[in-house]
Amino acid sequence: DQNKFQAIISHCKEYGFVFQSSEIYDGLSAVYDYGQNGAQLKKNIRDYWWKSMTQMHDNIVGIDAAIFMHPTTWKASGHVDGFSDPMIDNKDSKKRYRVDHLIEAHAETLDAAAGEELIAKMNALLAADDLAGLKALIEAYKIKCAVSGTVNWTDVRQFNLMFSTQLGSVTDEASEIYLRPETAQGIFVNFLNVQKTGRMKIPFGIAQIGKAFRNEIVARQFIFRMREFEQMEMQFFVRPGTQKEWFQYWKEERMKWHLSLGADPAKYKFHEHEKLAFYADAAEDIEFEFPIGFKEVEGIHSRTDHDLGRHQEFSKKKMQYFDTEINQNYIPYVIETSIGLDRMFLLTVCNAYEEEDLTKDGKEDSRVVMRFPAKLAPTKLAIFPLTKKDGLPEIAKELMDICKPHFHTFYEEKDAIGKRYRRQDAIGTPFCVTIDHQTKEDNTVTIRYRDSMEQERIPLDKVKELVLNKINE
Ligand code: GAP
Repeated sequence: DQNKFQAIISHCKEYGFVFQSSEIYDGLSAVYDYGQNGAQLKKNIRDYWWKSMTQMHDNIVGIDAAIFMHPTTWKASGHVDGFSDPMIDNKDSKKRYRVDHLIEAHAETLDAAAGEELIAKMNALLAADDLAGLKALIEAYKIKCAVSGTVNWTDVRQFNLMFSTQLGSVTDEASEIYLRPETAQGIFVNFLNVQKTGRMKIPFGIAQIGKAFRNEIVARQFIFRMREFEQMEMQFFVRPGTQKEWFQYWKEERMKWHLSLGADPAKYKFHEHEKLAFYADAAEDIEFEFPIGFKEVEGIHSRTDHDLGRHQEFSKKKMQYFDTEINQNYIPYVIETSIGLDRMFLLTVCNAYEEEDLTKDGKEDSRVVMRFPAKLAPTKLAIFPLTKKDGLPEIAKELMDICKPHFHTFYEEKDAIGKRYRRQDAIGTPFCVTIDHQTKEDNTVTIRYRDSMEQERIPLDKVKELVLNKINE
């Protein structure tokens, strides 16, 4: 449903969740900034993942490696030679397209059977790395440039997705380095450091959250595919031969994590990769039903000893572990879980967004409400004095001071209460508390729940506890 997706994008901008990067200069394609509510929501998602990995699993530790890495890293990882996509340029419009995006878009204009046939042909050519065949396919189907409508194409070429830059000043012996296209390699190169200094025993994991960069040729899908994004990755090191069980364990564990955030399980599914990388012995994605269809949010990969083995080969450092239980030295096998933080943000926003019809007794009314789980909501509690006088703001501010150290709290005294509630609905604040004249008499307040819109009176000194209980649920 493209309309719903567009409405969500507009809402994200209007309520300070996501802005186009450098918008005053007309933006930068596929780069986005998080606003006041978005940054807080993103931090809450990040913290929830970090806690679930490093605090709830006593055999997983977290690191924070640099974005810049020694260039040989990317030779060893295979990114220098293999991290590219076939692209084609239109000679008239000078627009560059990813071949698969171009062909997929054309397949959508065909009837179902013809579309499927075209995609099957494309996949076979992609698998065979047949660039001339791909060009011939584009010509045979007379696939047009989306901008100029022409069919005047260059040859198909492979473009590496890594961004490169120079380390040191140009007058020095400048050497080309890359912005990391994934965080995983920062974990692999630190395997020995962490294992030794942390005296880690297999099986154990290393988790990391950080920026990654890919020069993607992007379809207009908001923050679904970005050029600068954040990954939350965990590499779990296991004894060779046990990888199948651990792969199963992490599939289930990660799905549980997703479902703990309250989405309808029917919106999630596993997608098994049809084609495995040559070193992988299993790979599945967790997909979520976005308004634009089921799409990948997270990958779970069984990567064998490929990565550590390659780093051993290129660095000449032994990437081995001595397993005292079986008295053997080996290069550990790896199960990886890899999720995009921005994509999880998009999932959270899509899942929370609702245009609710509140028409009652012929009186038209509606609201937009973001039904974030309380633990992820950017603001947990809004505190409103009913009026600006009679000492009500003072009581409200005292409550602010009590709650502020524990969770994000918002204060507002302008406009009618109903309007103030709706503004909090739009940013997903789960609780609003109103201080009125009765508060002065009996120390009770009205608490209003975002989801049900129900209101009840509770003692003023129970507010902090109630909110804390809900966000820790
Ligand atoms: N280390 C394995 C790896 O990077 P990947 O499938 O390329 O695997 C993992 O990426 C996850 O990172 C994806 O499932 C997605 O959530 C996120 N991701 C990848 N590319 C992205 C992009 N251009 N923009 C936003 N998120 C992206």
